[in-house]
Amino acid sequence: MDKIEITNTGAEASSSAPAKKKRIFSAIQPSGAMTFGNYLGAIRNWVRLQDEFECVYATANLHAITVRQDPKKLKENTVNLFALLIASGVDPEKCILFNQSMVPAHAELSWVLSTFTQFGELSRMTQFKDKSARHADNINAGLFTYPSLMAADILLYQADLVPVGDDQRQHLELTRDIAVRFNGIYGNTFVVPEPYITKNAARVRSLLDPSKKMSKSDPNTKSYILMVDEPASIMKKFRSAVTDSEACVRYAEGKDGINNLIEIYSACTGKSYEEIEDEFRGKGYGDFKNAVGEAVVAELEPIQVKYKELLKDKKYLDELAQKGAESASKLAKRTIDKVYKKVGLVR
Ligand code: TYM
Repeated sequence: MDKIEITNTGAEASSSAPAKKKRIFSAIQPSGAMTFGNYLGAIRNWVRLQDEFECVYATANLHAITVRQDPKKLKENTVNLFALLIASGVDPEKCILFNQSMVPAHAELSWVLSTFTQFGELSRMTQFKDKSARHADNINAGLFTYPSLMAADILLYQADLVPVGDDQRQHLELTRDIAVRFNGIYGNTFVVPEPYITKNAARVRSLLDPSKKMSKSDPNTKSYILMVDEPASIMKKFRSAVTDSEACVRYAEGKDGINNLIEIYSACTGKSYEEIEDEFRGKGYGDFKNAVGEAVVAELEPIQVKYKELLKDKKYLDELAQKGAESASKLAKRTIDKVYKKVGLVR
């Protein structure tokens, strides 16, 4: 397994035996099937971090309703994501895994923090701008204050580190600003969290337009790989991935399509970019695309088998969700009680 390379101060946390384990928090929206971008940018790192850190992970279903959802589908997607995380290796024995809506303190702290978040700050969020352009018929207040809820998720657990893909960096910066602001007014209340973003595959790109991130909201299904895609479909999608006319596998500026494939291949095989360039010297893009497809299938196939197995036992999944929510609630209570007291809210 290749080691996680991180872009910033999370590094100090992974050095030798800290007295107390650092706390990690992260979440994913259950808004449909997960892409391979979600996997490389977040899920796989969640798994790798759980031995070294005290990890708290959630499905962010409260965030998901900022875009209109079919209630039945949302419930189903939440269970599916919960199962997919476990199938990917997130271990409920090692970490706290729960659904956001089952811990009311998220909504409570979100409200408080929204009063410490400025209109101007929220207006600058690129995700808000993107989503409001895509859902012009439903630019609701929740979509706008989404980052306050995300800050609440993180600050509630006093997280030191937040493993996410690069697209969440701006939200993390705002979370830090909110924490510093609150601490400045009321005294030390929140740990100020650091983003934990891997260097490789922090932004997996669309297979058809590598200027964009890989996202399931893309209308063309060939632009993304889903974690539940059949192997044949994965191979086909990689074969039709956009590259360039140079016919040389090398990582270089202006070769965004090939760079993306090299990053994916490197993330799956642990090989360095140089090793990959050596491996495919003198070979065409066809060979390379097949190899990338095979590496991704090898990564996803065992997860898919386990996922199908887990979904057969909904009762077991429900028990795990209940247990996770209880543990999360205990941690969350400490923070929300402290915050209400500091702000002067009667309980
Ligand atoms: P979401 O649900 O859109 O995505 C979940 C995680 O997947 C990462 N990701 C990617 N990484 C690399 N390449 C890609 N193409 C790619 N697409 C998605 C995201 O960066 C994210 O880490 N607001 C968050 C969910 C959230 C959250 C939180 C995260 C709610 N509360 C608290 C961290 C902490 C979101 O919408 O992620």
